[in-house]
This record gives sequence, structure tokens and C-alpha cells, in this order.
Amino acid sequence: GLRKKEVNVLCLGLDNSGKTTIINQLKPSNHSNHLGPLSADWKHVSQTQTQEIVPTIGFNIERFKSSSLSFTVFDMSGQSRYRNLWEHYYKESHAIIFVIDSGDKLRMVVAKEELDTLLNHEDIRNRKMPVLFFANKMDLRDAMSSVRVSQLLSLENIKDKPWHICASDAIKGEGLQEGLDWLHEQIS
Ligand code: GTP
Ligand code: MG
Repeated sequence: GLRKKEVNVLCLGLDNSGKTTIINQLKPSNHSNHLGPLSADWKHVSQTQTQEIVPTIGFNIERFKSSSLSFTVFDMSGQSRYRNLWEHYYKESHAIIFVIDSGDKLRMVVAKEELDTLLNHEDIRNRKMPVLFFANKMDLRDAMSSVRVSQLLSLENIKDKPWHICASDAIKGEGLQEGLDWLHEQIS
């Protein structure tokens, strides 16, 4: 029979940027009769949304299915002491979601450093894997625009991969669908 294509997605970015909140939004909501902010084409394999999100220790693995793909999302911890875990998953991943806290001006340079290290890694460099950026926390009053974030991260220098940046508010679930639709299109 027809098997769904298996895709591994790595979710990276500094601690507190909103990675786990974004992934939690992709899960079906607890409230019956409520479809959640995302289309019915993304289904979490088992769990529903959690109310309280805590800093990730190490990483979490979440599985989703769309009509054509079966996703395994590695939700990595962004804390500096766990960032050395990231590279162990580069080889087997097919796409990257990189989340930025658009309100965290002070650590934008740290986010850029981590991104540059990632993009120059031997298991990532020269691969055509898509990279989806979420300029998250766009609801914050002093949040930078996605254009500003992309300038500060020098995204225009990424020539070897398709990439896309979306402004998002992971708490309300805004902007997530656009990004995921793009990613889905890139990997199907
Ligand atoms: P680590 O697991 O430590 O790497 O962090 P993370 O990137 O998974 O961040 P997490 O999802 O735990 O979110 C960190 C905090 O930011 C939480 O208090 C979230 O509620 C909050 N948060 C996430 N997304 C948004 C957003 O779009 N807007 C606002 N205002 N807060 C957000
Ligand atoms: Mg987390």
C-alpha cells in the first residue's frame, strides 16, 4: 500500500524563544468542537495540548501526520548547556524550524551565532534542506519585525537552502499555518 513519507524536523533556537509553545499549538486542542488554530491536515498522533509549558530538558519528540507525510519533530532545549545535543540530530533531519524571540534584542547576536554555527556544520552545509524561521512573539509591544529579524540574522546570505521567515504569535497560534504550509510544500 501507499506509505506516508517519513520526515524528521528539528526545532531549534535559543531558550525561551517559543519552540515548545509552537509545537504545542500543532496538537489538537482539548476542547471538543474546537478545531484549534491550525487546519485539520495536521494531526498529532496521540496527545492533546498541554496548558502549562515548561523549559525543555534535553529534548522532546512529537509525532504528527498530514495527509501525505508523517512527521517526527525533535523539540530541542535551547538552554546553552543542552545546545551541544543539537548536532547529533543534524544528519537524520530533513528540515529545520528555527525560532527567534523577536522581542529579545539583547540576545539576537547569540541567536545569530548559533544559527551561523548550525549552517556551517558539516552535516548541514551544502544540503538543500528547507529552513523555516519563526520571528516569534510578534505580539510583544517592542517586537522587531520579521524583516528586521531577517536582516539581523543575515538570512539573505543563505544561498544553499530554501528558507522562509514568518512573524508568529505562538500563544494565539498566529502565523504558524503560513509557515507550516510553506514547509509542507518544500518537503512533499
Ligand atoms: P526552551 O525549551 O527552554 O528551549 O524554550 P522554548 O523555546 O521551548 O520556549 P517555550 O515554548 O517554553 O516558551 C517560553 C516562554 O515564552 C513561555 O512563557 C511562553 O508562554 C512564552 N511565549 C512563547 N511564544 C510566545 C509568543 O508568541 N508571545 C509571547 N508573548 N510569549 C510567548
Ligand atoms: Mg522548549
